[in-house]
Amino acid sequence: MSQPADAPFADPANTWNQRFACPEYLFGTAPNEWLREHAALWRPGVRVLCVADGEGRNSVWLAGRGLAVDAFDIAEIGVAKARRLAAAQAVAVNFAVLDADAGPWPPQVYDGVAAIFVQFADPMMRERLFANIVRTLKPGGTLILQGYTPKQLEYRTGGPPLASHLYTESLLRSAFGAMQILELREYDAEIAEGTGHKGRSALVGMVARRR
Ligand SMILES: C[S@@+](CC[C@H](N)C(=O)[O-])C[C@H]1O[C@@H](n2cnc3c(N)ncnc32)[C@H](O)[C@@H]1O
Repeated sequence: MSQPADAPFADPANTWNQRFACPEYLFGTAPNEWLREHAALWRPGVRVLCVADGEGRNSVWLAGRGLAVDAFDIAEIGVAKARRLAAAQAVAVNFAVLDADAGPWPPQVYDGVAAIFVQFADPMMRERLFANIVRTLKPGGTLILQGYTPKQLEYRTGGPPLASHLYTESLLRSAFGAMQILELREYDAEIAEGTGHKGRSALVGMVARRR
């Protein structure tokens, strides 16, 4: 019997631990391209948070650029792989196994937040997640975010199979209305992030500054 499309979201730790149980890095070990293109915003030494960082490809790359990086993910197997990646590259990342809804989201602590493919959140959880991201940024701090748009449901080359979890430019513009949007763009691209995100993809990228 096929399971409902939202079944993987009922027990995310278990779902993602199973996905990350493979020996290879599901999304590769290179950073996400949108993050790589925009991370020069963050100078060495600034403090950044990688939200739902998975197997660590983004946090480890940022730490290698001299940033002070905190990262969390709900899946302990993903975080264990992230720790191994950091050790292999001789960089320090402060990793934690955490549910995004559990916090702690300290207010006004980070110069930057990276939220790369964090579309595990349904609309209600997304509201809490986005509010927490804004809350934890210092005034003047920046968010670099990447997600899939609803057109990705046609490509099926990665991402959640649920329209309600996907982003459009207008959804992000309104969700982050209190921030200064520096860049916001829907675009198609060929991506090759391990076997997890591979092929023609319908993406949206945003860079925004907390006022
Ligand atoms: C598509 S992966 C992206 C991982 C990483 N950001 C990257 O770009 O490689 C989504 C991640 O969200 C994590 N996740 C799912 N639900 C979560 C939750 N409630 N709290 C924290 N992390 C969660 C999963 O474990 C998984 O690592």
